Amino acid sequence: MTQDELKTLVGLAALAYVRPHTIVGVGTGSTVNKFIDALATMKDDITGAVSSSEASTQRLLAAGIAVFDSNQVDSLDIYIDGADEIDAHGYMVKGGGAALTREKIVASLAKQFVCIADESKLVKALGVFPVPVEVIPMASKRICAQFAAMGGEAVVRQQDGAPLVTDNGQHIVDVRGLVVADPLAFESQVNQWPGVVTVGIFAHQRAHICLLATSEGVKTLGFKLQP
Ligand code: A5P
Repeated sequence: MTQDELKTLVGLAALAYVRPHTIVGVGTGSTVNKFIDALATMKDDITGAVSSSEASTQRLLAAGIAVFDSNQVDSLDIYIDGADEIDAHGYMVKGGGAALTREKIVASLAKQFVCIADESKLVKALGVFPVPVEVIPMASKRICAQFAAMGGEAVVRQQDGAPLVTDNGQHIVDVRGLVVADPLAFESQVNQWPGVVTVGIFAHQRAHICLLATSEGVKTLGFKLQP
């Protein structure tokens, strides 16, 4: 099975977690796009979605699914999103699509985070995929220097010859060369640096369940709610 077929499979499998007459938290990325396509088949059964990016909002609206602002809801039953890496505890690296801050906000509203991923995303330790960090542009140089002091190599993500601008009007720093041995501590540490909007380590907002698409089918990995 191709990676694209695995993403389609797991996007479809996530429908089992969507309850009728609820508002669904929706992530961002190519795997989530498959989920949105599947969700379109039950658009008349759900109230709508809270979206984590402009890209997902456009896809949801095109599918005929109402999109609510996050401030219009008190909480969500579930949040469904992909990951760049996920480990055996449900800790993740996210932000390859630059939507990490809104993803973390919507995830924080949800009672259950269902990660949908193909088997290439399951890792023993986080950090092979460059860790994305959303930053206030004026702080990017100093933040890159702080990562260098930790042994990492940080660069401002570029798009069409200029720094990529996120949905929030900020920049992304991608950090290579760090093994994130303690994701909870790493997330807490980096998030308190001045100018960091959020780091793409999802440890405090980790997944409760991962639907992992493999060539043998979709496996369900469960994680304890608290470490
Ligand atoms: C978006 O910012 C990311 O967090 C995505 O969830 C992550 O990059 C996974 O994307 P794919 O499903 O496209 O691999």
